[in-house]
Amino acid sequence: MPDSEFTGRSIGLWHPEQTRAEYRPCHPKWMFEMTTLIKNGRIITATDDYFADVFIDGETVSMIGKNLPGEVVKRADRVIDAKNKLVIPGAIDPHVHMELPFGGTVSSDDFKSGTIGAAFGGTTSIIDFAIQFKGKTFQQTIDDWHAKASGKCAIDYSYHLAVTEYEPKHEKEFAKVIDQGITTFKIFLAYPGVFMIDDQTMFRVMQSAGAAGGMTLVHAENGIAITEMINNLVKAKKLEPKYHAQSRPPVMQADGVARACKVAEVAKAPVFIVHVSCEAAMIELQRSRDAGNPAYGETCTQYLFLDESYYDKPKFEGAKYVFTPPLVGKENIEPLWKGLKLGYLQEVSTDHCPFNFKGQKELGKDNFTKIPNGGPGVEDRLSMVYQGGVIERGFTLNKWVDLCSTASAKLFGMFPKKGTIAVGSDADIVIYDHKKKRTISAKTHHMNCDYSLFEGWKITGEPQTVLSRGKVIIENGKYVGSPSDGKFLKRGAVVTP
Ligand code: URP
Ligand code: ZN
Ligand code: ZN
Repeated sequence: MPDSEFTGRSIGLWHPEQTRAEYRPCHPKWMFEMTTLIKNGRIITATDDYFADVFIDGETVSMIGKNLPGEVVKRADRVIDAKNKLVIPGAIDPHVHMELPFGGTVSSDDFKSGTIGAAFGGTTSIIDFAIQFKGKTFQQTIDDWHAKASGKCAIDYSYHLAVTEYEPKHEKEFAKVIDQGITTFKIFLAYPGVFMIDDQTMFRVMQSAGAAGGMTLVHAENGIAITEMINNLVKAKKLEPKYHAQSRPPVMQADGVARACKVAEVAKAPVFIVHVSCEAAMIELQRSRDAGNPAYGETCTQYLFLDESYYDKPKFEGAKYVFTPPLVGKENIEPLWKGLKLGYLQEVSTDHCPFNFKGQKELGKDNFTKIPNGGPGVEDRLSMVYQGGVIERGFTLNKWVDLCSTASAKLFGMFPKKGTIAVGSDADIVIYDHKKKRTISAKTHHMNCDYSLFEGWKITGEPQTVLSRGKVIIENGKYVGSPSDGKFLKRGAVVTP
């Protein structure tokens, strides 16, 4: 077959006697220019639900339709049959922490293992948090994160910049961060002495981010009052994992949310509350939005399924659920699902920040304050939201896609490159087997963590094939990509609903 019959492109290394199937090139240009046809699938986006074929030219979707012309179909180097499967945009997890130094140790997934785990779970973009450690400039912080992530990611990635110091003299540097495609900023109202900032800094960050078309994400708790409660528990020798939850009651989160929303209101800037875990905090967020403010938020998979009773597990196993904010009373679970359904909360992330039980969580064996805060989850989110949302609560497939992909693409400046299946969009696509029954377990997951938050849970639904910018990276239960496929995503202005 002569070159011209392919696509008219120069294909360089290909020899005319080779069939396409035989040809396994390693030349990156070739990889980008592969053509793929996904046929017979049911395409679900945040707004659409229809049967059609998708043609991918290189990294992007170039055609969608029923009965695509024969000459187009012939051009396909690879054909994927998606019969009886859902074809959805790759999921986006906008809240993860890979290789994060925290709590005297480092989160156990690096960018390689964490993004491979994500890919198995149908997630094709992540946003990590580049956290400004004491004495570092914004640029040094970003460079440090690039050094950890670059060349190691299986999927596309970006960072929110977590600011811990912001004086007026840093304004120019702030603008340069935006120029690099980092348009969202994070502040902590918790972890005093480590990451916590004061209200003056909060105001400055919100004002600068908002003025530049960006947005400020807030870990909202009353960190000072919580510290006093922790001290009192320690003094009273209440040191088991369950006291982590007692030291951070929902009302302290609600207090942080209310304060963040009020400061954002006077800064005339959008605000996004991360990891909302309880109804009281969600109500504060909703109150601000009802008053006309651009105030948004997320919850995380764990808060949609687990409650504070998990801290009572024997043999220190409660430590597996020590993350911040902690799990709360069961009565919060349905309101959070309702909040997602009605749009009080915009998306579901994971706050993936895994620490192994052996050797890491065990650091706090005798004192809950020494348990590193965080848990694994990046691999489970898409399927757990399908299970809990679509199967168990009748959410539409569109809503599922919105919560796991589209809403984040819009809110964090990536739409329509990411978050949908449309002509011109990146071909980040998941062929989802929505009938597959399986059991979640740390024995079979791909995250580098020796336990699962959902060990033994039986669910229905699994990503079968995952494409990242047109390249198949998960197929037949195997990772078939290379860990340098992922590119840094330059993001634009946020699009708020
Ligand atoms: O426990 C958690 N969530 N660890 C990660 C840091 C944070 O607060 O998001
Ligand atoms: Zn947080
Ligand atoms: Zn986090």
